[in-house]
Formats: sequence, C-alpha cells, structure tokens
Amino acid sequence: MLQDKDRIFTNLYGAESPGIEAAMKRGDWNGTKEIIEKGIDWIVDEMKASGLRGRGGAGFPTGLKWSFMPKDGSPENPSYLVVNADEGEPGTCKDRDMMRHDPHKLIEGCLIAGFAMRAKAAYIYIRGEFIREMQALNKAIEEARDKGFLGKNACGTGYDFDVYVHAGAGAYICGEETALIESLEGKKGQPRLKPPFPANVGAWGRPTTVNNVESIAVVPTILRRGADWFSGIGKPNNTGTKVFCISGHVNNPCNVEEEMGIPLKELIEKHAGGVIGGWDNLLAVIPGGSSVPVLPKDICDTVCMDFDSLKEVQSGLGTAAVIVMNKSTDIVKAIARLSEFYKHESCGQCTPCREGTGWMWRVMERLVEGRAEKEEIDMLLDVTKQIEGHTICALGDAAAWPIQGLMRHFRSEVEARIDAYQAKMAAE
Ligand SMILES: Cc1cc2nc3c(=O)[nH]c(=O)nc-3n(C[C@H](O)[C@H](O)[C@H](O)COP(=O)(O)O)c2cc1C
Ligand code: SF4
Repeated sequence: MLQDKDRIFTNLYGAESPGIEAAMKRGDWNGTKEIIEKGIDWIVDEMKASGLRGRGGAGFPTGLKWSFMPKDGSPENPSYLVVNADEGEPGTCKDRDMMRHDPHKLIEGCLIAGFAMRAKAAYIYIRGEFIREMQALNKAIEEARDKGFLGKNACGTGYDFDVYVHAGAGAYICGEETALIESLEGKKGQPRLKPPFPANVGAWGRPTTVNNVESIAVVPTILRRGADWFSGIGKPNNTGTKVFCISGHVNNPCNVEEEMGIPLKELIEKHAGGVIGGWDNLLAVIPGGSSVPVLPKDICDTVCMDFDSLKEVQSGLGTAAVIVMNKSTDIVKAIARLSEFYKHESCGQCTPCREGTGWMWRVMERLVEGRAEKEEIDMLLDVTKQIEGHTICALGDAAAWPIQGLMRHFRSEVEARIDAYQAKMAAE
C-alpha cells in the first residue's frame, strides 16, 4: 500500500486551501527555477527514466511524447502544450478533484512541461460543466502571475510562458485529442485523420502536445524527487502512483492515489469500504472507465491494477476508473446503457461508427429483454470487429469493447435470456 510520504496529491480531498500560499507550504513552486535551469534534455531524460505513462487512457510514455516536439520552437514559430481536462469518460472523476483542490500542481507542471517542449503557451481545455474547477484554475493562474511564476521571465528563468483556460461545451468526443484541438480553434469538435500527428500539425497548425491533467500535474514532484523515486513505485513499465476513481456498488465511493499495480481487490476493500454485500456479492468490474471490457469476479479476485496486467486479461487500465457492479446488477442492461452513450456521442464522421453504434445499441436493447435469436450474438460480435480499428478515432473501439467483454464473460446470461423470452412467447 502506498505510504503517505509518497503521495503526490496531498490535497486531493480539499482538506487545505488550494491557494498559492498553502500550495507552496505543500511543496509546489519549490525550486522550479532550478529545475528549469537544468535544461530541456535533462527534464525530458528524467521524465523518460521515470517511466511515466500518459494518464489519459492510452498509456503512451510521456517523456517520449515530449521528445517528438520540434527543436526549433521560437516566438515566430510557436508550439503549444494543450492540457486535456475534458474528463468525459464515464466513471472518471480524478482530474476534477486535482484541479479543484490542487490546481498549482497542474499550473507548475504546465510551465515545466511547456519549457521542455519549447512551447510558447499552455491551453487547458476544460470540460464546460467544471465551473468550480475553472474558477480554481483561473485563480491559481492569477496567483502564479502575481508572484512572477508565469508570464514574462517566468520564475526568473528568462523564459516567457503563460497558461490559458478554455472551456468546452460538454461533448465527450472533444476529449479525443484532435477533436479537442478543432474545438479549441473554435470549430466543430470532430477528430482529425492522423497522420499528421499533433506534434507536427496541432493547434492552429502548429506543433502541439496534448497531455492529460494528471500526466502534467505529477511532473513537478517527479522532477523534484527524482525519476528513481517514481520508477521505484509500482512495477517495471507500470511505474509510479496513480489516482483511481472507485464508483458503483461499493460502500465508500472515492478517488484515491495508490501504487500502480495494486491488486483490484485490495484497492476496493482498503479504500472504498468493500463491495456492498461483501466480496462474494461481486458480479463484475469495469476497471478503467466505460470504454474498457468488463471483468467477471473470478478475474477480479486476483488481477492487478496496471496497464500490462489488465491487458493480459483482455481489458485495460484506461483512465483507472473502477466501476463496481454487485449481483444486483442487470449486466446486459448496464452494457446496453453504455452502447446508448457511445451512439449518442459518435460525431458521425465515419460510417462504421455512425451507423454501427446505433445498430449495436438497438440489438443490445433487444438482448436486454431476450427478444433476439442466438445467432445474433455472433452477428453482433462480428459488427464490433468491423468497427474496431476501422474508424478515424478510438471512439469506435470504445463502443465495441464493452460488448465484446460482455459476450466473452456473460454470454451464457445473454443466451439464458433469449431462451426465457422464447419459452414465454411459446407459452402465450
Ligand atoms: C473518444 C475519446 C475521448 C477521450 N477523452 C479524453 C479525456 O476526457 N481526457 C483525456 O485526458 N484523454 C482523453 N482521450 C485520450 C486523448 O485522445 C489523448 O490520448 C490524451 O489526452 C493524451 O494524454 P496522455 O498522453 O497524457 O495520456 C480520449 C480519447 C478518445 C478516443
Ligand atoms: S470513430 Fe466515431 S467519433 Fe471517432 S471520428 Fe469516427 S464517427 Fe467520429
């Protein structure tokens, strides 16, 4: 279990003020100038050595991503850091608490990460509903400017850098990095075809790196305490601490920072007060936000919460949003509800996603009742395969995976429902 001395987000629950004086007492903005003076190469190498993998879902190595940015950034040829604070993935509510209660971690992280990628400015693209978080960020930015930490000659380093907050309008797809960039530019938020990748052509056509809030907010602490400290927590290739969001049928839903690789059972029992009705009353867990495949209890008994362990059991860490379902759950209905969500959020650009998400949802609705033929299960799985990997962005995959997970582990439940429906019809 993670010790308190190794926690990065020491004000995650808002016990203390988010203001700059309290934040500085907690260690933020401590030696920032010295970190920047160590230079771009040192910062990027240290981030690579820390093993930090992006916390927005895909787990791409953060230091490596920064190293893709061009080396010739200048005021005439600007590049940008964009922070993804859209946090639309159902079950996920970690970035919100970081921004509301510990905003200076993110602002300081923007300055250091921006410097390391030679960016002119950072834009924090925040979900429109996060009013309090927006206020907290804007206040933190003002406080940092007043102290000379941002703006011209930020922290006395000779580097000019500022941070701006931009509110979205509440579309899940605007969390996808290229849709986010479109939206930031004032256009309809629809994903772009890649390549070119944002590091070459991003916001306003300029090189851009998009990183999740948590990925950037942990940067100052990693650089202060050292890559060895961070990489010493967790497991190889799955290092560091991670904020997990635990919701659903648990006694104490919460966000908690823990060691990467903690067993799922321990996470739920130690921090969320256990499953309602006890561990044996567990039916299934979606371990990484609504997009990743569901896991049945027997896998949950032993699985660990990190990228590689969850991939091995054909699921994923995603955003580390743990959605717990006990035996009172209608699992078919729960997954059908997710299908409706993806149908609703599809931006409509690609045919497999636009047509397929609606088609899958309609079949799923019938499967909830059992009003289907058993052959339709394989037909549905076939359609998920035709969508997966055949669309512009990963929303198509995100719509396919929950259904694949359901059929992998709960096919007998779906078939039993079809049998029961047919028996009922025959009896009428
Ligand atoms: C449909 C969709 C929604 C997404 N929503 C978010 C989001 O709300 N927040 C986020 O950080 N990443 C989100 N992502 C992932 C981003 O595209 C991108 O990979 C991430 O911001 C990169 O940050 P990281 O490298 O720090 O993880 C989403 C991806 C897809 C396909
Ligand atoms: S996969 Fe769906 S959401 Fe993504 S670009 Fe295509 S239609 Fe839009």
